[in-house]
Amino acid sequence: MTCFVSIAFFFFFFFFFSYCEAQKASALYVFGDSLVDVGNNNFLKLSIVKANHFPYGIDFPTKKPTGRFSNGKNAADFIAEELGLPTSTPYLSLLSEAKNNKNNVSFTGGTSFASAGAGIFDGSDERYRQSIPLTKQVDYYVEAHDEMAKQIGISDLQDHLSTSIFAVVIGSNDLFGYFDSSKLRHKSTPQQYVDSMVSSLTAQLQRIYDNGGRKFEIAGVGALGCCPAYRLKNKTECQEEINHWALKYNEGLKSTLKEWQSQNEGLTYSFFDTYAANYDLILNPSSHGFSEVKAACCGLGELRARVPCLLVTSFCPNRNDHIFWDQYHPTEAASRIFADRIFNGPSQYTSPITMKQLLAL
Ligand SMILES: *[C@@H]1O[C@H](CO)[C@@H](O)[C@H](O)[C@H]1NC(C)=O
Repeated sequence: MTCFVSIAFFFFFFFFFSYCEAQKASALYVFGDSLVDVGNNNFLKLSIVKANHFPYGIDFPTKKPTGRFSNGKNAADFIAEELGLPTSTPYLSLLSEAKNNKNNVSFTGGTSFASAGAGIFDGSDERYRQSIPLTKQVDYYVEAHDEMAKQIGISDLQDHLSTSIFAVVIGSNDLFGYFDSSKLRHKSTPQQYVDSMVSSLTAQLQRIYDNGGRKFEIAGVGALGCCPAYRLKNKTECQEEINHWALKYNEGLKSTLKEWQSQNEGLTYSFFDTYAANYDLILNPSSHGFSEVKAACCGLGELRARVPCLLVTSFCPNRNDHIFWDQYHPTEAASRIFADRIFNGPSQYTSPITMKQLLAL
């Protein structure tokens, strides 16, 4: 009898604690660009950066375009999955729903502020006509924060936010913007430019911290010179200049984050070396089931990258063997691998800790 009771207790505690472990984070708040936009841009009337047409979404569960720049899911979906959470809802879709139903909007289930075309700098949205730059994304977050505080009270909100993950994936559009613009190149040296990207990003991260964020997942930029659009500039090989500055930016960000953490109590983060993870797929494609590392899947002309992925362009039959879906964006298959490495490492890609370790803190 005693034995039975202790066994019952053992199982009770075992399942109780494994259940607790399964609840990995209270919510996921996402900031960034088209790598993680899950539909905000579809609400921007003037924006021309929209993945709202076939064949975007062809491999999504609904088989429909959703605003994701992918054949299916993107990194935001897979990060949420790793956390055991539903994909964060686009902020603008939450606002519009609340307006239509004339009820209060709830952000605590996880909210995405990410917007395709967005940069760290406000100016980078000019070339795409309309997107939500990072500063504006954080403005929206601060508004959401104040609304949540009204709804659940500041003390519960602090508990909620300090156990939530704040994921930030941004910077590529600022670098593309610099290397595509002779005006920007005249204004500053590449070193000055990447330094100022790092300090502007850190200023926005600080605003999130000041409004309750404690656990940050921050991604560097990928090997931008190896995306199909940039390979066209170098006879299908990677364009080295932008790759060099992508590396410099990541280096600067990595060391600044360390310093930033030391200045803010209770702040923890995991930095993801997107460049290294990206380069590994390019160098060792077959170990991940890829056979095409250069060409886009959707688009026309050389590397299917001379003409962007449009309603009328052709696309490859097997999306799982391509790293790139279009001129700039990874396939669902590649995004899934990135999210897995963000969560599990190995440590050559995540520093100082993995997202899994970040959750356990
Ligand atoms: C073009 O690719 C080759 C081979 O990878 C590289 O050595 C060279 O630096 C690249 N040129 C430019 C302009 O990026």
